[in-house]
Amino acid sequence: MEEKKVKVLIKEEDVKRRIKELGEEITKDYQGKKPLLISILKGGGFFLADLARSVKLDITIDYISASSYGHETESSGNVRILKDLAQPIDGKDVILVEDIIDTGYTLKAIYDMLKIRNPHSIEICVLLDKPSRRKVEVPVRYKGFEIPDLFVVGFGIDFAEQYRNLPYVGYIE
Ligand code: IMP
Ligand code: MG
Repeated sequence: MEEKKVKVLIKEEDVKRRIKELGEEITKDYQGKKPLLISILKGGGFFLADLARSVKLDITIDYISASSYGHETESSGNVRILKDLAQPIDGKDVILVEDIIDTGYTLKAIYDMLKIRNPHSIEICVLLDKPSRRKVEVPVRYKGFEIPDLFVVGFGIDFAEQYRNLPYVGYIE
C-alpha cells in the first residue's frame, strides 16, 4: 500500500485527558445507574475501552457492527447491521459510543434502530465531531473534540483499515 504522511491533529495526552473528562461527566450524570456502553465497531471499540475505564460506575459493554453504503468517501442512510448486540436493551440506560460523527447517517440509523427497542434512555458519545459535514441531525450528548473537515486517522479510526492503532489523532494530507 502507498504510504501516506500522517500529521498530528490531537496529541495522545490531550486525547487521553479529554476521555478522562468525558468519563467523569458520565459518572456524574449516571449516579445510581448502571449504564450499558455500546460501541460501534471497529473504530468505536478503541474509544470505548478507554472511556469505560474512566467511568466509575457499574457499567456493562456491548458491541454492534454496521456498514453503510454510499459512495466511497461518504456514508449514506442505508446502514446494514453486520453484528447485532448480544442482549436486549429494554429498560437499560444506553450510551452509544462512536469514534467520529461526520454526515451523521451512521449514528442516526443506529440510534433510531436502538431507540425502538425501548431502552430506559439512550445518549450518544463521540470522540470527534466534524460539524461542517453534517447532513442529518443527531442528538450528540457527549463530545470529545470538534474538528475541521480533515480526513483523520488513529485512535481506532482508519484509512483503508490502516492506522487504527495510532495513539493520537492524526490527519492525512
Ligand atoms: P457518518 O455516517 O458520515 O457520520 O460517518 C461515520 C463513519 O465514517 C465513521 O464511523 C467512520 O468510520 C467514517 N469516517 C468519517 N470521517 C472519517 C475520517 O475523517 N477518517 C476516517 N473515517 C471517517
Ligand atoms: Mg466507524
